[in-house]
Amino acid sequence: MIRTDVPLAPWSGYRTGGIARWFAAPRSEEELLGALRHKEREGVPCFILGGGTNTLIGDETFDGLVIATSEWTGIRDLSAGMLEVEPGTSLRALIGATVRRGWAGLEGFIGIPGTIGGAVWGNAGGAAGGIQPLVEMIRVVEPDGAPRWIEGASLPWRYRSSGLGARAIVRVRLRLRPGADPEALRAAANAVFARKRATQPLGATSAGCVFRNPPGESAGRLIEAAGLKGVSLGGARVSDHHANFIVNEGRATSREISELIERVRNRVAERFGIWLEREIVHTRAAEGCRP
Ligand code: EPU
Repeated sequence: MIRTDVPLAPWSGYRTGGIARWFAAPRSEEELLGALRHKEREGVPCFILGGGTNTLIGDETFDGLVIATSEWTGIRDLSAGMLEVEPGTSLRALIGATVRRGWAGLEGFIGIPGTIGGAVWGNAGGAAGGIQPLVEMIRVVEPDGAPRWIEGASLPWRYRSSGLGARAIVRVRLRLRPGADPEALRAAANAVFARKRATQPLGATSAGCVFRNPPGESAGRLIEAAGLKGVSLGGARVSDHHANFIVNEGRATSREISELIERVRNRVAERFGIWLEREIVHTRAAEGCRP
């Protein structure tokens, strides 16, 4: 179940990154616990990867264990409006399933790539807010290997953060609003998607917005106003479409993306005195199971 020397680029939205010394793609809690025991035995760092759509994977060999949860999928109805979802389930599939049932709440998340595990971990969202209010319970495995349920309401949620930190997400219970008209939900999703397609490079190789928005500001607006749209470094380029996206034009390395991120951050700081905080996660910072 644990593989060695696995190239990580195919697991990343940016399609960049080096090799993982060890790699596991568990499909059950038992398999996940087995992978975590391996990490304990070897005493190595570990990184938990969801869909890789908000993560920059370092070019250097990751001398530890990467646990990818994106192959661990499944959706189960518990009661009207209440679902239990495996962590690797794509948001796209989940939105499709809930819209078909006429359960409202997720349709505004259309166009966000990645998995429900990653979306909950990073409190993914958009103009209408994060996923936080829909999360009833989360089953996690603590860094010491102990599984337990956590109430969504007990977490220290913030903009683009659940506060789950080093815990692995094993299952999520979502509470949606049943009894809606599927056609109306589909129309709402289509409207959000059309707006996103007009303002974001959705088809490009990227990891979405690079920086969090500063309070009351838009990082994209600041980056554009600093004259950085279209600026490139090697194969990495600040999108002409939305300046808070960096796209891999085909042959970028993670180092180039990372350097371009720092260049953008410094320029915005010089121009506007605002230090942008990164939204995307970098595997280089992995320590324990902490992304
Ligand atoms: N703007 C510019 N130039 C740009 C981009 C945006 O001037 O290059 C301006 C827009 O004209 C608008 C304002 O900035 O006046 C806000 O732009 P937008 O509506 O595109 O929203 P955003 O704040 O840039 C946020 C989220 C997105 C999410 C959209 C839509 C963050 C960091 N970004 O973007 O999330 O999709 O709202 O809901 O919170 C992500 O987190 O990866 C992400 C893409």
